[in-house]
Formats: sequence, C-alpha cells, structure tokens
Amino acid sequence: MKLPRNFFKPLAIGAPAPLRELPVRLERMIHFVPPHVEKMRAKTPELIAQVDVVLGNLEDAVPADAKLAARAGFIEMARGSDFGPTGLWTRINALNSPWGLDDMVEIVAAVGNKLDVVMLPKVEGSWDIHYLDQLLAQLEAKHAVRKPILIHAILETAEGVDNVASIASASPRMHGISLGPADLAASRAMKTTRVGGGHPDYKILADAQDRAPRPAFQQDLWHYTLAKMVDACAAAGIKPFYGPFGDFSDPAACEAQFRNAFLMGCAGAWSLHPSQIAIAKRVFAPEPAEVAFAKKILDAMPDGTGAVMIDGKMQDDATWKQAKVVVDLARLVAAKDPELASQYGL
Ligand code: GLV
Ligand code: MG
Repeated sequence: MKLPRNFFKPLAIGAPAPLRELPVRLERMIHFVPPHVEKMRAKTPELIAQVDVVLGNLEDAVPADAKLAARAGFIEMARGSDFGPTGLWTRINALNSPWGLDDMVEIVAAVGNKLDVVMLPKVEGSWDIHYLDQLLAQLEAKHAVRKPILIHAILETAEGVDNVASIASASPRMHGISLGPADLAASRAMKTTRVGGGHPDYKILADAQDRAPRPAFQQDLWHYTLAKMVDACAAAGIKPFYGPFGDFSDPAACEAQFRNAFLMGCAGAWSLHPSQIAIAKRVFAPEPAEVAFAKKILDAMPDGTGAVMIDGKMQDDATWKQAKVVVDLARLVAAKDPELASQYGL
C-alpha cells in the first residue's frame, strides 16, 4: 500500500506538487475537435467562447494515417489561442497503441503549460493510471511545467468497470471518469450498434393479466454502469461524466440521456457535434424553479440543521445538503451565463 504521506509527493524531482483539491470549474460539455482537419482547427477561437472544454481528439475517429497530423494539429491549436477559463484537454491514443507514448512526450514538451487534462482511453485498472501518472511527472519535470496536468479516464471496458473504484482513487492527478458506451458495448458483447442512448428492445413488459396489448417500458441500458461510476467518482472526490451520444439526428434522445446522467450526479457530457453544445448547456444546469426552491431551504435553515416544512415538504439536514448542491452549481453556472444568473436571481 502506498503510504498516505507519499500520495501527495511529486513523482519526479522538479515536477509540480499534486493538487489536494480539484480546481472548481464548470465543465458541462467536453467538446471534441478532430485536430488533423484544418477547417475544424480554424474554428478553435470561436469554440473557446462557446464551450467549457475544448478537447483535441487523437484516438478513435482519427484514421491511422492521420495520427501524426492530429498530434501536430493539436499542438498548433493549443499554441494558437488563449483559452482563458475554457479548459484545454486532449484524448491521447491508448497505452497499448503505437502512438500513446509519443502523444504525451511531444505534447507535454510543446504545450505542457497550457494543457489542463489528458483523457486516457481504454483504462483497465489502476496500473494504467500509475503509468501515466509517473510519465507525466517525468515530463513535467523535464519541461518545467508549473501545474500538474490532470488525468481523465474513459470507462469503456468490462475490466475497467470491474475496477472502477480503484481507477478513481489511483492518483491525486485523477480529474474524473467518462462513460464510453461504444467501446464498452463491444467489450461486453452487448448486442447494440448504437453509440450511447437506449435500445427499443431493452424493456420490461407489463404483467399479462387481461390486458391486451400489454404495455412495455423501455429501460436505460446504461443505468447500472453509470450509477457504479458515479459512486466511485463521488467517493474519490472526482467528477463523473456521460460520454458520447452518436445519433446527431435524434436531439431529444441525446437530451434524455444527458438528463439522466445529470440527475444521477454527472457534471457534464461530451459534445461531438455543435448541436450538442446547446443541449449540454440546457441539461447540465439546474432548472430556475429548482434553484428557487433550494434557496428557500437554505434560507429557512441558516445553520443547516433541524427540520422545517416548506410548501408541504419536510426539510432537514439532508435536504439542506441536497439544496446546497443545487445552489452551488447554480452559482457556478451564473458566473458564466448572465441570462441564467438573472433567472436564478443570483
Ligand atoms: C467512447 O470512446 C466510446 O467508446 O464510447
Ligand atoms: Mg471509445
């Protein structure tokens, strides 16, 4: 077992000290950009103003013969813009691919002081995080990186799901975890070709009794995994995210999947298409009516203890904490969105 005192020591001489608390940042959407496509790279300044996180994707969806162009394109994107409060992330290639190592070596050397988070795909267990943790520390020391680059894991293999709690707590460098439903479906031999979302055949049929036709109710294929991931992240003090929703022609289904994730505890989701940015903004912010009610609870119980009735509903220390989650998020959103700030009365 690693000793608690050593957990927060830099893993290389000269690397910055690991963070004890995650930076407080609004991350409603992680917007994916294919950096090998010049036309998409050119949109970076526009995107910075619209999204919470810009991610240069080097892994799946980038053809094998464009991997080096994507890496170079990401470095160019990172150098060419001031990201301000918008996060700059990259999704590197998997650790067992021919590109993962050089992705890290070249990117940290070139833009290590601008990079906030590395998204690591196909994480199977804590050993993957330990490897990247050590490598990042060596590279940070070598290139005089001033603040630690964080790691975000994708949960997209059956083995990873089995080990999710130890992945979440593997290092103080852990930022969060995203559900990757496409790779996970393949890894588990699930019989779906969709990228996220429900499936019409995954349902519960009402009891036969004397009803015809018998109503059927579609269930959420991802409920178990998402819940397991949210618990692992919350317990480790890191952030859970829903990943990709691949059917751009069905914004209602995307919104429903994102909303389930939001209600379950997720901080955000990926946007793979510009139309999903607005969906994520709508979903990953509390409803003004919910915020107003939560504020009433906080106001009625200034020290967070006791029991009161509001609008016929019982409130106590636990609902005070629920209300605080809602109001804290509303404040974070309000700081970035003047329209919602006025709707929230904050
Ligand atoms: C994302 O990478 C996924 O596989 O769903
Ligand atoms: Mg994947």
